Amino acid sequence: MIAILGAGSMGRLWAAKLPTGQVAFVPRPEQSVAPLAYHFRPLQGPEISVQIRWLYDFQSPSLLVVTTKAGDTLNALQPVLSRLPDTTPIVLFQNGLGSQQRVAETWPNRPILAATTTEGANRPESGLTVHAGKGETWIGALTPTGETLVSKSVSTLAETGLSVQAEPEILTRLWQKLVINAGINAFTAILNCPNGEILNHSFYQQWIGPLCNEISALLAASGQPPRSPTSLRGAIETVARNTAANTSSMRADRLARRPTEIDFINGYLARLGAEYGIDTPVNQMLTDRVKQLD
Ligand SMILES: NC(=O)c1ccc[n+]([C@@H]2O[C@H](COP(=O)([O-])OP(=O)(O)OC[C@H]3O[C@@H](n4cnc5c(N)ncnc54)[C@H](OP(=O)(O)O)[C@@H]3O)[C@@H](O)[C@H]2O)c1
Repeated sequence: MIAILGAGSMGRLWAAKLPTGQVAFVPRPEQSVAPLAYHFRPLQGPEISVQIRWLYDFQSPSLLVVTTKAGDTLNALQPVLSRLPDTTPIVLFQNGLGSQQRVAETWPNRPILAATTTEGANRPESGLTVHAGKGETWIGALTPTGETLVSKSVSTLAETGLSVQAEPEILTRLWQKLVINAGINAFTAILNCPNGEILNHSFYQQWIGPLCNEISALLAASGQPPRSPTSLRGAIETVARNTAANTSSMRADRLARRPTEIDFINGYLARLGAEYGIDTPVNQMLTDRVKQLD
């Protein structure tokens, strides 16, 4: 039995793709136990009806997949982990950085793993989950006891037919995605435009250079492979062009009046700057501007 904590877009994508009958969502305390039913639209082929039950108290899953938003993850895990055996691998799917480290620091003896994925899922209407884009998923350990459980977790999640691979350098992989998100998401939320349009805005053009200087210094201070500001800007703008028509998750959250994950993207970089004594005024400004929108 695979348990999924966070029955949102990502959680429903993995639940719909895993073998039928082998998945259960983790309920909130005191939640009703009627199964969760929804329609799932795959990348190809017809829509299917999915019914996923909730995990009973006495069931011990072989894997816990965590698909809450970064800001909810620690609180969501607290009541669950008191009932979960110490040996169950826990795979964190949150975007950005900061929440994963907090979980690993809170439960250092548990097998905590992090995943980063470029799969896309959304819920354009109530009761419908759409697999919006094919991607790849990498999984790696954050705690020592997680190391031996990477390949088992990878093969369990690969039963979906999605591309899932082990990543020995998962923090570096998470940083790579963070860099792109830090250079695109806040701008799209503030300017309220699709990814590609930020490139033509003077606000973006004014701040992207200094932002890349900050990120380059933070990468070096964190012991990550060095990247020049020019190479960072090139990578950010390539993704912005390749996803020009897309709405970023941060803009989508803003439009739906949901809290954003800014604290785990530019906010994380600003906090890291304070820790290392590196000035990060642009990351702080972007964080503040997005929080004003929140
Ligand atoms: N969607 C994507 O395409 C995608 C791609 C890559 C990465 N990610 C990352 O994956 C994470 C999840 O994204 P998402 O799009 O799936 O978000 P989402 O649709 O908002 O789903 C999060 C789910 O977590 C639930 N939740 C919150 N607190 C909980 C708690 N204490 N106990 C149980 N459930 C709780 C929420 O329930 P309520 O709605 O009832 O609050 C919601 O159903 C984010 O970090 C995101 O950045 C998403």
